[in-house]
Amino acid sequence: MQTQILVDEAIEALSTQIDDTAIIACSGGIDSSVAAVLAHKAVGSMLHCVYVDTGLMRKGESDEVSEMFSEMGIKLKVVDASQRFFQNLEGVTDPEEKRKAIGEQFIRVFEEEQEGCDAKYLVQGTIAPDWIESGGGERDVIKSHHNVGGLPDDVDLTIVEPLREFYKDEVREMARELGIKSSERQPFPGPGLAVRVLGEITPDRVESCREACHIVETRIREAASEGRCDLPWQYFAALLPVRSVGVHGDVRVHGETVVVRAVTSLDGMSARYSPLPHDLLAEISTEITNSLKGQVNRVVYDITHKPPGTIEWE
Ligand code: XMP
Repeated sequence: MQTQILVDEAIEALSTQIDDTAIIACSGGIDSSVAAVLAHKAVGSMLHCVYVDTGLMRKGESDEVSEMFSEMGIKLKVVDASQRFFQNLEGVTDPEEKRKAIGEQFIRVFEEEQEGCDAKYLVQGTIAPDWIESGGGERDVIKSHHNVGGLPDDVDLTIVEPLREFYKDEVREMARELGIKSSERQPFPGPGLAVRVLGEITPDRVESCREACHIVETRIREAASEGRCDLPWQYFAALLPVRSVGVHGDVRVHGETVVVRAVTSLDGMSARYSPLPHDLLAEISTEITNSLKGQVNRVVYDITHKPPGTIEWE
């Protein structure tokens, strides 16, 4: 009941805030999906939903998102901008620079889409932890979340952020209330796999990370459904630019490292590492090194809580 009131209030507020064409970037994630459905309910076809394929999404994600929006009866334009993102990230290894480069590129793609539909408003799925961790209030900047700190100063659109005051668990409740299929999906960062590929972003390294993430997600979900472990709040892999000597058959391999991360959390502000069973971790490790032969020859498990770590590695 409480959530229903929040949803109604958000729709009401959006219908007074937006009086002209609006545009929203839909990643398929819970935050942007809830923002899109609320705005669609408020202003209908005045809202243009755009999905930017950055080349940094998870396996099969673009198709799943298109399907989800089509099932909800909301028109979604898919823009393949992956080449532009990779070009823009060439030689960038600093985490903050990556986030800024991605945020900026996002907005450039958007400006082009905005010109196409003459949008005056940009709706964003920013939630409270995004701006708090990006230096909201008196705090230090921990990470510039791509929909906050990455915004260039010269954006020519009025920003509308219906979820700004909400935390993840509240947004999940709203998603359930709105019947959004992604409401049970685990969170995924705005800059995508770029913050899970430490060091330089290349299409090949992103592909390795994508495959490793897919294995981690699939195996952990299966194990949880078989009762072997609790389903963590978030679980994924990151690719580290740390090379170590390994052996495949009797061939020496100087490959990179995959780190498996799984945490329990309520809202992402703090987290504890999930004590996954060792036999499950061993299965994941074997599958990753088999699938990524020659590229990855070592898998490690991250046992750091947040704080002092963060959930993502960048
Ligand atoms: P950290 O790594 O800061 O992550 O402990 C907390 C939660 O936020 C997600 N995350 C992001 N979400 N844009 C987002 O929309 C971002 O730039 C971003 N960076 C991290 C992260 O996956 C975790 O759920």
